[in-house]
Formats: sequence, structure tokens, C-alpha cells
Amino acid sequence: MDVVTTIAAARERRSVDRTAGRTVALVPTMGYLHEGHLSLVRRAHTLASSVWVSIFVNPTQFGPGEDLDRYPRDLERDLALLERENADVVFAPSAEEMYPEPPKVTIGYSGLENVLCGASRPGHFAGVGLVVSKLFNIVEPDAAVFGQKDAQQALLIRRLVEDLSFPIRIDVAPVVREPDGLAMSSRNTYLSAGQRRAAPVLYRALLTARDAIAHGERDPRRVEVILREVIAQEPLATLEYAVCVTQDDLQPPNRIDRPVLLALAVHFGTTRLIDNMPVDPKEI
Ligand code: PAF
Repeated sequence: MDVVTTIAAARERRSVDRTAGRTVALVPTMGYLHEGHLSLVRRAHTLASSVWVSIFVNPTQFGPGEDLDRYPRDLERDLALLERENADVVFAPSAEEMYPEPPKVTIGYSGLENVLCGASRPGHFAGVGLVVSKLFNIVEPDAAVFGQKDAQQALLIRRLVEDLSFPIRIDVAPVVREPDGLAMSSRNTYLSAGQRRAAPVLYRALLTARDAIAHGERDPRRVEVILREVIAQEPLATLEYAVCVTQDDLQPPNRIDRPVLLALAVHFGTTRLIDNMPVDPKEI
């Protein structure tokens, strides 16, 4: 496994793959890898002959007062995990390498970036779009793998790739959960023991709302009430949002007569967790 830390070295390594006729699948990450990330790496192996993983805690997607400074980092551990998954190349640049000057370009998505997570994290998806575009231009992958856990991010990246004509296949992998249903996240490490015990309430809320749709509920507002009611039963949880929106444009539908996304953001003390579940009323 090769580890490169500069843009020049990444481009040089990419040309080795190109000359050897290898296709490349990129898994962009912010490190502190868990089983969810490793499932993306395994998926990447099915998409291309060379698997690249980027590890970069991207400052432009963190707002003032967010957890940029305390975001967990352990490059040595990440490299050992990736070696075991037979990753071919790790691109782990510094912030100075990626942003020698404060960037002036901003990426917008005509308002899609301001709903759900974007409502409480202004600028977050602009930062994600910027860094993902840079990674795509540096690595020039044939495919890139993202997790469904960040459903809004996956949707916006699909738009970015379509609107900017990146010749890259975007693959979105299902959420990976702990045995008790909690979606895997690097931020789970922030939870106290009590908060960790309480956190599967997100999954329970999603399952309860999905069951209601399976039993014929077609009013999205009623489904949102169900999500809120389950979260309210957990004293350590503070709800940020609970929505039932269309999968293609994240808008509230009048009726659940096409695929919807059930999505939640919930705080446990200072830790913010998100989770979601796509539901197709015709398939449950
Ligand atoms: O999902 C993440 O970890 C990040 O948002 C990403 C896509 C690596 C961009 O920094």
C-alpha cells in the first residue's frame, strides 16, 4: 500500500495506475475509520482494480464552533486497517497542501444545501463540494464510493458530478449499524456510556415510522410525528430535525406515493448524530 501526502505525488501515483491499465475507485474519508468505512473499501474493490482512500479532515466543511479541533484522528491505526483491506493507495494530505490559500470558489446547490443538515450547518455542503471536487481532480477516479448514512451529502455529490460533468461513477453504500442498530460514525466515540446506550433510539424511530408506512400510513406529517414521538421517549436525546421528504429533492411530499427518505438529526449533549432510512411505499 502506498501512502502519498502531496498533490504532486498523488498525480504521479495515479499515472502509474493509468499506465498499468488499472481503473481507480476512490473512497473519500475524514479518517478514524470504522467498519462502515471498511465496507466502502470492500465495495470499491468490486468497482475498480486499484482502490484509493483519502484521509483528510476537511476544515472548509466545519463551521465556527463545530468539532474540527476535536474530530478524532489516528492515522497509524487507519493505515493498519486499510493495509488489511488491501487498499492500494492512501492519499493523506495536510490542510496546507489542500488549501495553501483560503479558497475563493464556493459551491452551491440552489437551496438543496440549506435543508435538513444544511439548515443547522451553514456552509457545510459548500465545503464538502469543494473538497470532493478537488479530490476528484487530483485522483481522477473512475468511481467513488460514499455512504448512505450521509444521505443529503450523497444526493448533492450526485448533482455535483452531473452538473460539472465529472466522468465518475458514484456508488452509494448502505448504512452499516452496530448490533443494537446505531449507525456507525466516527462521532460515536464522543458519546458517554449513558448516551451510547440511549443512541439506538434513532434507529428505533426510523423502524417505527417505516412500519407505519408499511401499514398504510401515507401522510408525511403523521410519519414525522411518529419519528418525533419515539425520540421524545429518550430523555438524553434532543431532536434537531425529523423529516419525511422525497428522495430526489428532499422536499416534503403531499402524500407518500413515491420513495421517501426518513431522516433524523439528534443531539446527545454536545454530540450530534444523524441517521436515515429510504422507504419505497410500493416495496414494503
Ligand atoms: O463523509 C465524509 O467523511 C466527508 O464529508 C467527505 C466526503 C470525506 C468530504 O470531506
